[in-house]
Amino acid sequence: MSFLSATLARVKPSPTIAVTTKAAELRAAGRDIIALGAGEPDFDTPAHIRAAGIRAIEEGKTRYTAVDGIPELKAAICAKFARDNGLDYAPSQVSVSSGGKQVLYNALMATLNPEDEVIIPAPYWVSYPDMVLLAGGTPVTVEAALETGFKITADQLEAAITPKTKWFLFNSPSNPTGAGYSWDELKALTDVLMRHPHVWVMTDDMYEHLAYDDFTFCTPAQVEPGLYDRTLTVNGVSKAYCMTGWRIGYAAGPEALIAAMRKVQSQSTSNPCSISQWAAVEALNGPHDFIAANNEAFVRRRNLVVEMLNEAEGIECPMPQGAFYVYPSIAGCIGKTSANGARIVDDEAFATALLEETGVAVVFGAAFGLSPNFRVSYATSDEALREACGRIQAFCAGLR
Ligand SMILES: Cc1ncc(COP(=O)(O)O)c(C=O)c1O
Repeated sequence: MSFLSATLARVKPSPTIAVTTKAAELRAAGRDIIALGAGEPDFDTPAHIRAAGIRAIEEGKTRYTAVDGIPELKAAICAKFARDNGLDYAPSQVSVSSGGKQVLYNALMATLNPEDEVIIPAPYWVSYPDMVLLAGGTPVTVEAALETGFKITADQLEAAITPKTKWFLFNSPSNPTGAGYSWDELKALTDVLMRHPHVWVMTDDMYEHLAYDDFTFCTPAQVEPGLYDRTLTVNGVSKAYCMTGWRIGYAAGPEALIAAMRKVQSQSTSNPCSISQWAAVEALNGPHDFIAANNEAFVRRRNLVVEMLNEAEGIECPMPQGAFYVYPSIAGCIGKTSANGARIVDDEAFATALLEETGVAVVFGAAFGLSPNFRVSYATSDEALREACGRIQAFCAGLR
């Protein structure tokens, strides 16, 4: 019998981290690598937020804090929900953790029993199904096809709900597709949920502020106030505020659920970093104008990548509404052979051959639950993106 737990045997390590690690190894070995795998902005944390962190250290705010967040940060989070989403939450309805990832994990650990099902639209952020498995539940994926803009329909959601469904785990704009649900599209889903009172909604709004063109972000409890009492609204400072390494995520929802999540955190990690919490207070309460400037760069890069990838033979790349990812289909490349003789049997083979033959690191679609595709993170310089897309074009032109 293995020394390791049976539960752990059900989950796999994060493939996005694996790609980033492999790219770093190849670079260390002297290869010319362009890594398009990492899901984080290439911009530095803004100066006023960094300064708040430094101030917290200088002022000795370096001790344990309340398990799920300092009152000042909870107040800033309540103000954010009121300001941005029209949602009214009290501090007792707010939980702060070490990143959005821990928020989601706490919520699943706090609620799932064996046989409980969690509906997850695919393609999904890589961690969702594995976190559900770790918490003892069963992920139920619903395919959000390219033809429907990588969004699921009301009929699909209706068909996936069973008496065992506990959560609908929703993410817009999405990692890995960048797809964002409009108000009407989301309302069609919340209408379904209104007919099934035993199903709760966990909405991962991590990319809220990374919304482009005329797309307007909306979140389930805002679109359907009738869901307020069974919605956990998850967000964080990692992406929009360029604070991935600071590790601050948060959620708001019913008080009893928040208390249960606090219990999980109190017996695992305790409070998130005190210094990061003070920096997050400044992020949420301070100036936000840098977000528009960053988004200008993201839109320019998105347009560049979508255009260049659509010029590559065998690739079809839809234009996403938000986040900093594109999720092109490589259906036209499957079954071919690369210039170096690699058979492109699936998207994993495509990504492997692309990395080995051109030095461009992307994450294959199977990792996100929808194939044959790959994910490009365009949160890197225009020059690197132009060079990488040029190499992808040459790679595709060489397929026979
Ligand atoms: C959709 C989504 N949710 C949550 C997270 C986790 O964010 P954090 O770094 O705050 O844990 C990520 C990070 O990649 C993400 O893409």
